[in-house]
Amino acid sequence: MTALGVMDLSGKHVVVVGGGSGIGRATAQAAAAQGARVTLSSRNRDRLAEVAQAIGGGTAAVPLDMTDAQGVAAWAGAVGALDHLVISASSAAHGPFAEMEMAALTGMFAAKFFGPYQTARAALPQIGDGGSITFFSGVLSRRPGLNCAGLGAVNGAVEGLTRALALELGPAIRVNCVSPGMVRSEAYAAMPAETRERMYEATGESLPLARVGETDEVAEAVLFLMTNSFTTGAVLDVDGGHMVRQYATR
Ligand SMILES: NC(=O)c1ccc[n+]([C@@H]2O[C@H](COP(=O)([O-])OP(=O)(O)OC[C@H]3O[C@@H](n4cnc5c(N)ncnc54)[C@H](OP(=O)(O)O)[C@@H]3O)[C@@H](O)[C@H]2O)c1
Repeated sequence: MTALGVMDLSGKHVVVVGGGSGIGRATAQAAAAQGARVTLSSRNRDRLAEVAQAIGGGTAAVPLDMTDAQGVAAWAGAVGALDHLVISASSAAHGPFAEMEMAALTGMFAAKFFGPYQTARAALPQIGDGGSITFFSGVLSRRPGLNCAGLGAVNGAVEGLTRALALELGPAIRVNCVSPGMVRSEAYAAMPAETRERMYEATGESLPLARVGETDEVAEAVLFLMTNSFTTGAVLDVDGGHMVRQYATR
């Protein structure tokens, strides 16, 4: 048992799939700062190498495309034994229900549901007792937005998987899910800067905390789920109060 409030990860191996950017990178940095040995994974090798070097302390980079079943098996072998697996990697697709192409929907499920599913399954034999898996969903599972039916559904699927695995993998391994609200990250990098800032502002205004989130704030929640020994099967909302926001802007 650790002293109250201490999220100590000394001697632990933390693997962050999605660690090259956004919330994953912030989680990797925070875990390393708490003493963990960290491995970063995602598809972009150059970015992984850059982030691993910036974090330092022996941070490793093992590239992975979660949608490639054979690649996932090889990745698990390369990563080796671990304590905490975090899967923040995903991709999103938006569009009206009647118009969104099925290929976009199945591509999103491949990256945000089946990818994390098979990645967690491949890593499972290597996760030590007392370890954890942390998945990512998002507010849209329970507070839907227009043109986000597919994204809401895939988030709901991840939350369902979390609860089922918490039951099946306990007591050795805890399984939880973080559900972020809108957070400034590379997820929105493709948007024109002005449109993006307007979106952050409009969403922020609608929230009890009157702003969107920062990646570090979500990383802190991931560390809590990794280190709190009595939390499993939880979906932790880190969303500035999005779940309780007023339905019309103030
Ligand atoms: N930011 C938000 O406002 C927000 C809101 C709600 C929910 N979320 C959820 O929070 C999680 C983290 O989001 P974020 O903002 O940190 O996003 P992000 O910065 O876009 O990071 C996503 C990461 O996923 C990796 N990735 C994508 N497809 C992959 C694949 N097939 N295999 C391996 N890696 C893959 C990307 O790296 P490569 O391109 O190198 O593969 C990238 O590093 C996601 O699940 C997201 O849906 C975020």
